[in-house]
Amino acid sequence: MTRPGQGLAFTKASAAGVYNFLLGGKNWTAIDREAALAVIGTSPQAPEVAKENFRFAGRVAAWAVAEYGIRQVFDIGVGLVVGIGIDGVVGSVPLDSVETCVRNVDPGAVVIAYDNDEVVLAHARALRENYGHVLRGDVTDLDSIFDHPDLHSHPKLAGRIDLSKPAVVVLAAVLHFVDDPAAVMAGLRDRLAPGSVVVVSHATKSRTSQERVSGMTRAYDRASRPIIFRDEEEIAALADGWDLAPPGLVDVQLWSPDGSYEGEVHETVRVVGMAAVLPDHQPERDHTAGGC
Ligand SMILES: C[S@@+](CC[C@H](N)C(=O)[O-])C[C@H]1O[C@@H](n2cnc3c(N)ncnc32)[C@H](O)[C@@H]1O
Repeated sequence: MTRPGQGLAFTKASAAGVYNFLLGGKNWTAIDREAALAVIGTSPQAPEVAKENFRFAGRVAAWAVAEYGIRQVFDIGVGLVVGIGIDGVVGSVPLDSVETCVRNVDPGAVVIAYDNDEVVLAHARALRENYGHVLRGDVTDLDSIFDHPDLHSHPKLAGRIDLSKPAVVVLAAVLHFVDDPAAVMAGLRDRLAPGSVVVVSHATKSRTSQERVSGMTRAYDRASRPIIFRDEEEIAALADGWDLAPPGLVDVQLWSPDGSYEGEVHETVRVVGMAAVLPDHQPERDHTAGGC
C-alpha cells in the first residue's frame, strides 16, 4: 500500500497509519499493517476500541459545541481521518469525524485539524491541491497550534478564530504519545479562555492485564513514536484544576452526558476519556440538536 506524498521513507510504522488500519481505513503501509496486526494479536478487540475512540471524539466535541455554544474547535493529532473539511473534501474512514459531528450541530463552527506527522500532512495535501486542511502543529508546542500563521492568513480562517473566547480542544488518543501530558494541559490552561473544553482520550493500563499492555507497547516499538499506557489515576490527574463534565473519566464506550450511549467495554484493551472544562464560565446557551 502506498501513500500520497513523494520522498517519505516508511521505515517505521506511523501511529496514524496503525490507527487507520485498526479503523478499517485505507491509508497504511505494510509496516503499519504489521504493527497493527501485532496489536490485534495481543488485544483482539483493538479495532473495535479504536472505532469507539473515534466515535467518542466526535460525540464529545459535538456535545461541547452544543452545550456551551462554542464555535471554534482545534482537533490536535487528527490522524489520517479527514472528514468534510473547510474546503468541502470528504475523507477515507467510514465513520463520522470530529468535523462532521461538530458541523451536524453547528454548520458554521470552525474546525481546525493539526498533526505533526509528515505522512498525515502529505495525505492532507494530496486531498487538496493547494492547501493542506491539516495544519502542521505539535501538541507539545502550543505556539505551533495557536500561533499558526494560517489562522490569521488563510482566507477560510482569518477573522474566525478568537482565543479570548472559549474553544474546544480535542486530544483524542494523542497524549499517550507524549512524555509530559500534564505540561500540555497546563499550557492549555494558560492559553484558553475560561469555559473552554478539552476532550481527552488516553490508553490506560488500569484493569487490563500487564501482559497485554506489554504486548501492545512492544507492537508500537515498531512505530515512529512509542505509546505510553498510563493508569487511570494519572490520566484523571490531567484534569486537576479543571471541572470534569459528567460522567467524568470513563471508558470511551461509556461517555455520554446522560448515560444514553453505551458501547461494549473490553478488558483486553482500554481507552478512557473525559471532557474537562476550564472554570469561571457560565454556559452561554442550551443547544441540544444533532451531534453524533
Ligand atoms: C491514534 S491517532 C488518533 C487520531 C484521532 N485523534 C482519533 O482519536 O481518532 C494519533 C495521532 O496523533 C498524532 N500525534 C502524535 N503525537 C503528536 C504530537 N506531539 N503533536 C501532534 N500530533 C501528534 C499522530 O501523528 C497520530 O496522527
